[in-house]
Amino acid sequence: MDEKRKIIFSGIQPSGDLTLGSYMGAIRNWVELSDSYDCYYCIVDMHAITVRQDPAELRRRALSQLAQYIACGLDPQKNTLFIQSHVPAHAQLGWILDCYTMFGELSRMTQFKDKSAKNAENINAGLFTYPSLMAADILLYQSDLVPVGEDQKQHVELCRDIAQRFNGIYGDVFTLPEPFIPKTGARIMSLTTPENKMSKSDKDPGGCIYIMQKPEDILRSFKRAKTDSDTENCVRWAPAEKPGVANLMQIYSCATGLTMYEIEAEFAGKGYGDFKLKVGESVVELLRPIRERAEDLMKNKDYLISVYRDGAERAARAASRTMRKVYKKVGFVEP
Ligand code: TYM
Repeated sequence: MDEKRKIIFSGIQPSGDLTLGSYMGAIRNWVELSDSYDCYYCIVDMHAITVRQDPAELRRRALSQLAQYIACGLDPQKNTLFIQSHVPAHAQLGWILDCYTMFGELSRMTQFKDKSAKNAENINAGLFTYPSLMAADILLYQSDLVPVGEDQKQHVELCRDIAQRFNGIYGDVFTLPEPFIPKTGARIMSLTTPENKMSKSDKDPGGCIYIMQKPEDILRSFKRAKTDSDTENCVRWAPAEKPGVANLMQIYSCATGLTMYEIEAEFAGKGYGDFKLKVGESVVELLRPIRERAEDLMKNKDYLISVYRDGAERAARAASRTMRKVYKKVGFVEP
């Protein structure tokens, strides 16, 4: 008998353009896993408004993000690609899970602490309860696996705790999800300040690489990337001593499939200048077909609309099965 296929959920906020970090930490693995799982890949616009957004820009980025998902290799026939705000069950379950999430748990979340420090003038309730909405995203689809970068591990662990608490009270309602974090690329750092994560809200434009960026701009950023202030001028895998070089080695490894050992061998006797150029070129070649395909897709808005409508319909159907169970368990009258 055929075993039921396992389920994946993951999402990215359209709070900035997609970065090389999101590609290497998340999307690359989404594509790889998509043949063996039933996948729900979401554009989490409801999460994005926990920080103030320009409405026109948010709308533009959501559509462009969908085009980039497809261009990265996610076939909309095989994967459910959709926009979070189009499936009201996310907000409904989010509220319910708020009532099963503790103030203390939310206060300990690193992303909340970071974001409240960066947005001191707008520490809103949504920013605080962000992780229970994320738990709703994952639990609605009875997800087994959540492919994310290292920074989201804490949120997936909290999601498991919330699910366990709920199941402890009502019986087995939710599947307990596992995070899937890649060995290489789980934490790509800024090119200019390698002690900070590469982030779409990076204030220093040279620190972040975007999927849709022009080749000449990508190459310029890599040429200026910070290496390390040692006198060795040699490409060697030593993350603690040489964080800048280690970051570039991770990027090169993700782009080419080479191991750290093979990268050291390739650049033996060569300096940082050659190395940075080669890493930049590998990223340009990695992103070129994705950018070109996404630009093409953006010319066909009707197609993109049909993809996200179809995705929302499929997602809503799956979500309603979980919501029926949850309504019954918590004691809501059947609608
Ligand atoms: P977000 O939008 O910040 O990032 C999207 C995904 O990209 C990964 N990522 C990185 N990986 C490696 N290096 C980097 N520099 C880097 N920057 C970002 C993130 O780990 C993430 O996997 N809360 C989530 C969005 C979300 C979600 C979900 C994810 C909402 N609901 C449910 C999974 C499941 C976030 O802010 O990701």
